[in-house]
Amino acid sequence: MNLTRKKIVAGNWKMNLTLQESQSLVAELIGMIADEKKNDCEVYLFPSFIYINTLLRQTQETSIHIGAQNCSNKSTGAYTGETSIRMLSSVGCKAVLIGHSERRTYYQETNITSAEKINLAIEQHITPFYCIGETLNERNANQQFEIIEQQLNEGIFHLNADHFSKCVIAYEPIWAIGTGLTATIDQAQEMHAFIRNKITEKYSVNVAQQVSILYGGSCNEQNANELFSLPDVDGGLIGGASLKSRNFMNIIKAFQ
Ligand code: PGA
Repeated sequence: MNLTRKKIVAGNWKMNLTLQESQSLVAELIGMIADEKKNDCEVYLFPSFIYINTLLRQTQETSIHIGAQNCSNKSTGAYTGETSIRMLSSVGCKAVLIGHSERRTYYQETNITSAEKINLAIEQHITPFYCIGETLNERNANQQFEIIEQQLNEGIFHLNADHFSKCVIAYEPIWAIGTGLTATIDQAQEMHAFIRNKITEKYSVNVAQQVSILYGGSCNEQNANELFSLPDVDGGLIGGASLKSRNFMNIIKAFQ
């Protein structure tokens, strides 16, 4: 772990938790984080859209950031059921997940729609967490580097250096998401270093050294410490293990 980059632990709640469960989880986390004075890791939570406003108010005086799990690739208009980046900005939301593999798999989202969303997020000063990752078939065919490079080239490398520096990258091998299979520390470090090299080639060493690259995919309190101690892993995007305050807090504490 490089000390100059932001360390980030983010909870992607997906389609889980009621309003009451969400508020209890946040209240527990606020208490636990307040007790951990030494921890300088940034904490993000990505709840359902309909709780964002309430949770923003609940976390107002705390260090917890609230983000959205998705946004529309259109700026405004007749798109029933969609939520625009301007709407997110208007409630004070500061971050958004873009290109999560579940959006790509179940809702046909692509590198191109991700690029459109990233542009809108940057315009509204909302931090995009751009999610990339290969399938098991792609890894078995040794195509993982090609796939990741394409996701970077088509989804985010159109940004200028200044805008790119405002983004967070989340590497999430699809075969590790929700499966209990985690990338080995060698696989994780190898891919994170590959991504950072691509950023260096496209922008500069400086930009590459500034951008946080998170690992996601069955990251939990047992493996977080090992993963977060890798030189190019700057934190985690956590699904299942972010739904219980104690588990999530132990992952945050893996940075100490
Ligand atoms: P998981 O999900 O931690 O449950 O594997 C990670 C993610 O999808 O962001």
